Amino acid sequence: MSSSLSRSLIEISSLHNTEIELLFSVADQISAGKLFEPVAPGQTGALLFFEASTRTRMSFETACARWGVHALRLEGKTGSSLEKGETFEDTVLNVAAMNPSFLVIRSGEDLDLKGLQKKVSMPIINGGWGGKGHPTQALLDAYTLRQHFGKNLKGLKLLIVGDVRHSRVASSHIQLAEKLNYEIAFCGPEEFLPTIDSVRVFNSLSDGMKWCDAVMALRVQLERHAEKYSLSAYRKQFGLTDQSIQALGAHGVILHPGPVNQGTEMDTSVLGNSRCRVLQQVSNGVLIRQSLIYTTLQGGS
Ligand code: CP
Repeated sequence: MSSSLSRSLIEISSLHNTEIELLFSVADQISAGKLFEPVAPGQTGALLFFEASTRTRMSFETACARWGVHALRLEGKTGSSLEKGETFEDTVLNVAAMNPSFLVIRSGEDLDLKGLQKKVSMPIINGGWGGKGHPTQALLDAYTLRQHFGKNLKGLKLLIVGDVRHSRVASSHIQLAEKLNYEIAFCGPEEFLPTIDSVRVFNSLSDGMKWCDAVMALRVQLERHAEKYSLSAYRKQFGLTDQSIQALGAHGVILHPGPVNQGTEMDTSVLGNSRCRVLQQVSNGVLIRQSLIYTTLQGGS
């Protein structure tokens, strides 16, 4: 198996299975304390977060620190020349001209990450791109599932509950499930679900819970639904509560990519349940992003 990824990660579909296995294997080595020496002292990595983030931004920053890479951060418009009307694309091109070893970008879909890749010489890592995808989140979720269910996820059943239509996390899982052969089903109000013929839909949370090995609640994007949809009705029908998770098999685990609206898609008590892997996902986020930076730097640009 090659030890490097020499290119961008904009969508999961561009990854080969050997590259996914490499990312997981390097994450295992980091986790076991076998890879820890700074590999890139003096290099820089640009973290351009045009949209809000806590987990993704700080885990990439932690990953950079662990490899000795200096993280150059741009967070939102404030304090940058975006305030003066510079475009997102110009901002990226100007930062790229400073020659960081890679760019991590979180943005809306108005920024064309694939088009940008043709204009810069260093790899671009998608840190959450509108509704199109969030590949490192899907990878860290799958890594978390591997820790619980074993390395081969073939046949594993993942139920994704809630606001699938607006979710970049769900978009990336659809692609990753095809690569790793796990099965996905959706559950939620009709207006929250996309129509994808190949994906099974459960209208009843209880039925979906009985079917799955792992359930992942998604953030209800309150900014899109608060006025149109009763959140208490949502919780009653689709919220992960002490009562609703009883339908999950004894082996089942609970995931959420965060941030969690406690009391809407997931109750506070469920976050504290021993089957809940939410904080483990966050810890694994550092491992996967460390692995990605490591393999990217090994590959050069
Ligand atoms: N899961 C996730 O992307 O979280 P942040 O928005 O906090 O980065």
